[in-house]
Amino acid sequence: MDISKLAITAQAMVADNKGLLAADESTGTIGKRFDAINVISSEDNRRDYRELLLRAQDIEKFISGVILYDETIRQSTTDGISLVDLMVQKNIIPGIKVDAGAKPLSGSENETITEGLDGLVARVEEYVGLGAQFAKWRAVIKIGSDMPSGYAIHTNAHALARYAKICQEGGLVPIVEPEVLMDGDHDVEVCQHVTEETLNAVFGEIYAQGVELEAMILKPNMIIPGSDCLDTIDTLEIADRTVATLKRCVPAAVPGIMFLSGGQSEADATLNLNTMNAQNGNLPWKLSYSYGRALQASVLQAWKGVGDNVVSAQKALTLRAKLNSEACKGNYLGE
Ligand code: 13P
Repeated sequence: MDISKLAITAQAMVADNKGLLAADESTGTIGKRFDAINVISSEDNRRDYRELLLRAQDIEKFISGVILYDETIRQSTTDGISLVDLMVQKNIIPGIKVDAGAKPLSGSENETITEGLDGLVARVEEYVGLGAQFAKWRAVIKIGSDMPSGYAIHTNAHALARYAKICQEGGLVPIVEPEVLMDGDHDVEVCQHVTEETLNAVFGEIYAQGVELEAMILKPNMIIPGSDCLDTIDTLEIADRTVATLKRCVPAAVPGIMFLSGGQSEADATLNLNTMNAQNGNLPWKLSYSYGRALQASVLQAWKGVGDNVVSAQKALTLRAKLNSEACKGNYLGE
């Protein structure tokens, strides 16, 4: 595979203050999102919703790529255009989730290993044929009593690097996503320590397995306290700790770091990204976004499965994308 071509795609993903829309919820996860707004998770409803997202006016000004799920990359709009063609027409890069989800890790009580390496070479080939240009694999690291274990960190880091190498050889830019979950009552220092250990393990494996840094994207969590932690913390501290951790762990050859939102509110995810960019003029990598919930929460609320609400739901998506694009420049002025 021509790595320089992949490096150009990776740069395009973070160019012009754009970010990614993660619309790759598995059938189970989108089902939970639809339950919350009383929409039945049928194949047609899932297609209608993803079509709504992709057709939102002007999103291409703020969103460089969209991560799709296996079902979605094969779907067509109600009037028969494939969703991938629709994206290409709007100059949005199609991406695909290729992991098979976080499954119980044998030998550890409560931890998970992300599966999906078996058959990955053939699936990458198929997805390239369907028009995908980048891929995503999410590893999950939990904080809790006796967690994370070094074992969970290292098995997940190993699998992330294996996935990334297979993608590069097959012609997809890998998004490497080691997510340290915000669930729990741990404080921000614990999150920072675990994230640092995780990123060091991931980049150790990436080096050992010969993954090309120039042709990948990192998708990490921000350094924030656990969702049940009672500490109050301001955005400056989150930004300082997150950027410090990234400087310690992420080689300068990586073109872009595109954060997950991880359960932060839409406004917090935008504000924290903005603070990082506003406070740091000269970083080796672009800091951008690859949000799922923090781009879609208000969209789902506006839509509620009702055809008459499609335009207002689309406006909600374009607004969030625009605000996050401003945050990529450090120019976000609030809600
Ligand atoms: P959230 O932004 O909702 O965390 O989702 C991003 C994602 O793609 C998780 O894999």
